[in-house]
Amino acid sequence: METSKKFILLALTVLGLGLLFGILGTLQYVFPGFLKAAVSFEKTRPLHVSSVVFWIILAAVGVVQHYLNEHFKNNAKYPVLVKIQFWMFLSAIPIIMVSYLMGVFGGREYWEFPPVLALPIVIGWIAFLIHFFTSVRQLTKQPVYVWMWLTGIVFFLITFLESYLWLIPYFRQNIIGDMTVQWKSYGSMVGSWNMLIYGSGIYLMDKISEDNKSSSSVTAFLIYSLGLFNLLFNWGHHIYSLPTAPYIRYVSYAVSMTELLLFGKIIYQWKSSLSAAKKYRHEVPYKFLLAADIWVFIMLGQAIVMSIPAFNLYTHGTHVTVAHSMGTTIGINSMLLMAFVYDIFGNTKQQFIKPKLFKKGYFLINASLLVFWLSLMTAGILRAAWQMNEKQNAFSQMMSSLTPFFISFSVSGFTLAIGFYILFRHLYVTNRSKWIHNEA
Ligand code: HEM
Repeated sequence: METSKKFILLALTVLGLGLLFGILGTLQYVFPGFLKAAVSFEKTRPLHVSSVVFWIILAAVGVVQHYLNEHFKNNAKYPVLVKIQFWMFLSAIPIIMVSYLMGVFGGREYWEFPPVLALPIVIGWIAFLIHFFTSVRQLTKQPVYVWMWLTGIVFFLITFLESYLWLIPYFRQNIIGDMTVQWKSYGSMVGSWNMLIYGSGIYLMDKISEDNKSSSSVTAFLIYSLGLFNLLFNWGHHIYSLPTAPYIRYVSYAVSMTELLLFGKIIYQWKSSLSAAKKYRHEVPYKFLLAADIWVFIMLGQAIVMSIPAFNLYTHGTHVTVAHSMGTTIGINSMLLMAFVYDIFGNTKQQFIKPKLFKKGYFLINASLLVFWLSLMTAGILRAAWQMNEKQNAFSQMMSSLTPFFISFSVSGFTLAIGFYILFRHLYVTNRSKWIHNEA
């Protein structure tokens, strides 16, 4: 099997695990102290968050490698680099998970593992960078997605290293500066993986519509420049509560929503230009692109509200933030990634196997995500209102009034995870005979 496909299978495996930890996390929301002795929430959260972040990164890497091969007709000069990257990730991730389970931390939020475990990730990423340059060879006259992949690969490395600057005493000395650098790096890191994912989205749209309009249009190059601008400057909302210079907030927020809006526009234009027959042939990836498009608009609405400084000050650190990060990483990133996974593994050109199973999974994910997101939003808004109220009730009273929303968060999170497991089963059934005969 191609290494790019192995990356995607590894990504789906860590997603499967991440969903289990997510279920455990919501149970601990509803029943505080549940399984505390074995896996407390302090462990469950990083186990879940790191797994799902690895799902996004690994899947994005596998998809970019696969599409690079497709686009450049297997022109890789050093295919061994892809293998090196795979083995680096495959060795680091289980150790990271075990270290969390054993309560060995030492890192910072999102990367809470001991910093030494970041080394294989950096080495693997450098191999990816060299693989990219040696496969592309010439950058002139490339479609926009090649530029997006390049930007995503380069900036992920820079921002990942930047998120470890706190290891150097100079950066740790000043707490405001330290936190600003930290949150800036996270904001730009998300921008970097979005470059990999949106670039692949444009590649897939070209592939489905069998022309290169999406990737050579002015809008496509506009979204690329805006995406880059966003990647560099949109992290202001992460540091709203820090006393930094106000202009940083204003500049960064002025650009932060344009990227989503433009991406929505690209999918919308492309959708209306497709003929019904073409839509049908690639039905499954198209469905995920459609779902991502709808979630882009919902998340854009939320982002606009969250960008109002007075509102942001109160909602910061509440479940509104969690709703936004999960809404975007599931609704946009994961939907797009599933479109690519189905394009690569879905056998869409042959007869589609078990359509009912697929529909069940697809529907369950999207319907559950809506309830999941609304539950978190409501809990977050109620908590923000409590924070603003001068005659506050006790914290414990406020938290217990949120219990119904935590229950619906937990139940919808469970059905959301089941939706993904159904799609895993569907992918397995679709590919079973190929895998058994080692034809993948
Ligand atoms: C593709 C699927 C998923 C992705 C990409 C994802 C992503 C994330 C991210 C990025 C965070 C960090 C939020 C923040 O710090 O603001 C998070 C937290 C969390 N997620 Fe998920 N998630 C997924 C599925 C689920 C599911 C299905 C459940 C529940 C069944 C769940 C439960 C949780 C919990 C309990 C937290 C911790 C919230 C807190 O700290 O208060 N997640 N998730």
